[in-house]
Amino acid sequence: MTASPPLISLQSVSRTYRTDGVAVTAVRNVSFEIAQGEIVAVMGPSGSGKSTLMNMIGLLDLPNEGAVYLQGADVAGLSEDRRSSLRARSIGFVFQSYNLLARHNAIENVALPLVYCGIARKERLARAEQSLQSVGMLHRAHHFPRQLSGGEQQRVAIARALIASPLIVL
Ligand SMILES: Nc1ncnc2c1ncn2[C@@H]1O[C@H](COP(=O)(O)OP(=O)(O)OP(=O)(O)O)[C@@H](O)[C@H]1O
Ligand SMILES: [Mg+2]
Repeated sequence: MTASPPLISLQSVSRTYRTDGVAVTAVRNVSFEIAQGEIVAVMGPSGSGKSTLMNMIGLLDLPNEGAVYLQGADVAGLSEDRRSSLRARSIGFVFQSYNLLARHNAIENVALPLVYCGIARKERLARAEQSLQSVGMLHRAHHFPRQLSGGEQQRVAIARALIASPLIVL
């Protein structure tokens, strides 16, 4: 029997940003594996490359060097469409700055990932209610992001990240 590949595997991953002739290597030669069910904390000072790393694991960015594998598949080899659909079905991302849509209220924000999973509106809203309930935010379902406190916005962002029961929560 062959062992299944790790859920997440990074091999010699580097990411350099280039802006106006200035190069910043945010992640340099990072390798690790994470198995399904593992809980891992990435710690380091501000500006040390944590979000850059998360963006690559979350399929929002690609490395300049090295490779990111999800369940054994090299994500750089996937088409843009395939990457988007994998992201929608498998990854829940709680962004550092929440990234809630300003023109949508809390429940609509939470329900959004289910649109990309092809789930009907009625079920989307029912599941969004449950997800809001799970983070203690159901009483603010119809508030817009600007009408919520920072911690409340963060909890709505968590409810959104969890709603599609993703394989990976970042
Ligand atoms: N889009 C970008 N273009 C250019 N430089 C960037 C970009 N994003 C991040 N950087 C730089 O890359 C480095 C790593 O940034 P990153 O956001 O990954 O840090 P972080 O560890 O998440 O920090 P924090 O704890 O403050 O959130 C920083 O020096 C930052 O200025
Ligand atoms: Mg960060």
